Amino acid sequence: MVARKAILRVRPDSSFSTQYPVVPVLVAQQAQSGAAETWGRRFVRRLDGPFDRVFGAGESPLRHLGALGVFFFVLLSVSGAYLYAVLDTSATGAYRSIDRLTRDGSSLGGLLRGIHRYAADAMVLCTFLHLAREWLLGRFRGFRWFSWLTGVPLLLFMFSSGIGGFWLNWDQLGQFSALATAEWLDRWPIFASPLTRNFLTADAVSDRLFSLFVFVHIGVALALLLGLWFHVQRISRADVLPPRRLMLGTGVSLLLLAVLAPVVSQAPAESSVLPASLPVDWFVLFPHPLMYATTPTVLWLVVVLSIGALLALPLLSRRQRLPVAVVDPAHCNGCRRCFDDCPYAAVTMVAHIGGVQGREMAQVDTDLCASCGICVGACPSSTPFRGSEKLVTGIDLPQAPIDQLRARLRHELAGTEPHTAVVIFGCDQGARIDSLADAHTIPFSLACIGMLPPSFVEYALRDGAAAVVVTGCRARGCEFRLGAQWTEERLAGNREPHLRRGVAAVQVETVWAERGEEGRVRAAIAALRRRVSLGIEEQKAEHLQ
Ligand code: HEM
Ligand code: SF4
Ligand code: SF4
Repeated sequence: MVARKAILRVRPDSSFSTQYPVVPVLVAQQAQSGAAETWGRRFVRRLDGPFDRVFGAGESPLRHLGALGVFFFVLLSVSGAYLYAVLDTSATGAYRSIDRLTRDGSSLGGLLRGIHRYAADAMVLCTFLHLAREWLLGRFRGFRWFSWLTGVPLLLFMFSSGIGGFWLNWDQLGQFSALATAEWLDRWPIFASPLTRNFLTADAVSDRLFSLFVFVHIGVALALLLGLWFHVQRISRADVLPPRRLMLGTGVSLLLLAVLAPVVSQAPAESSVLPASLPVDWFVLFPHPLMYATTPTVLWLVVVLSIGALLALPLLSRRQRLPVAVVDPAHCNGCRRCFDDCPYAAVTMVAHIGGVQGREMAQVDTDLCASCGICVGACPSSTPFRGSEKLVTGIDLPQAPIDQLRARLRHELAGTEPHTAVVIFGCDQGARIDSLADAHTIPFSLACIGMLPPSFVEYALRDGAAAVVVTGCRARGCEFRLGAQWTEERLAGNREPHLRRGVAAVQVETVWAERGEEGRVRAAIAALRRRVSLGIEEQKAEHLQ
């Protein structure tokens, strides 16, 4: 019953489509901004599949690896603050003060020590997975060069601080790690006397050296925090903490690990004793066994070449950049929606060139712009219902102007029987909707689904479409981070510009599907067709009664 009423309410005006001249626009002329389909992208999608099924795409840990890294850093800071409070920072007292935490059965201290150690391991793991994911997705190119390059020093800070943390226990493992690091640094004769000398006798390990250990561990961790701040500078609304359930799940797992496998000290460090074997923490301390299995020179080569390769990637893989968004001051009323919605902080608000006191207009920083078009979808001037011959909006993509979308929509719908065609608005990054085109299915692929002003959905229905499908990547899978989320919120009426309530819900379907999931869009179209024709049948039956 609800469906029937809705269909009656939005019955299109058939004169509408003839009101405008038909403009033939070739699909091929539209610049495609889709990320190249590489084996890396296919691999990531294949890996995401099972995780999405178990956790849901929005809460899959694989889609929040950077944020999980930050979460573990927070856990490290909180548990580390307690450990620092009980640590005796003298060379002679350090071992006892930390060892006591587990030996005395002090449950809180022991637990916090365990959480500190396992959070460090988890952070290293998540950071490597984050790096691998961004690399496989090709996210070192173009406008992302900044996030990529600022990520590289974080690796060095993370390992320096993590390895330095083992020295503070000053047990045999800490001693082994400090000695291995000194041996590695001594490979180059840059110090007046070899660093390894500092560990030859018990007296050599002075309180001053211990202060250096504290600086390496805590000072470098602060540098990591500063580096993290830089790392997310060009990302607006950065996903810095994972969803609550993910934090709870990972937090509880670390706690369980700390209870089931408590972290204990090895025997106290002794300069005359070289332990036959030690339980190495493979996440943080793996460079040491690697060095002893090879040579310090090999470890230097591995470090320098890896860092060099990571830094060189954005330079080596330069791709032709797409034109960036352009503001038309005459059509910008300074509403700030593009400023709020831009995922890469590329829009700033400046005084309007019109000179009216207090009026603002948008300005695009060409260096930051991802050419995603999300701002176009946000702009109130992008509505197709405007009467002007040419649809000029406040902010637009030169390679795919919004006027072209309106012109193509009119042209394609004019060529079909009224109320027979399903219009699909999709995105160059997600399911390939062009492959779904047929006599009654008209796809329009945008740079990002966030580029779609919701009024286009209503416009398509008024112009004769039987139904509209809106499709984009899954939650947290949006190539431009926020496009799918903004679209969902705009269609649900929770974000401006919103889809008018008068638009029939039965005629509109959203389906979040990534490349390779075209079948899901096809199934949604079939279901939508059934739903709409059922509505029409019911409508006819009602008329006959
Ligand atoms: C301590 C280690 C690291 C942490 C905690 C971390 C955290 C983060 C966070 C929170 C984001 C924002 C995610 C979003 O909102 O979409 C991010 C983005 C990013 N990270 Fe990291 N990161 C780390 C290391 C790295 C490394 C080593 C690299 C690569 C060299 C890297 C490359 C990137 C890139 C390319 C982005 C931007 C993704 C995009 O534009 O969609 N990160 N990182
Ligand atoms: S195209 Fe995308 S990145 Fe560029 S200004 Fe618009 S929303 Fe921001
Ligand atoms: S959304 Fe449009 S009107 Fe609003 S500030 Fe941006 S360009 Fe101007």
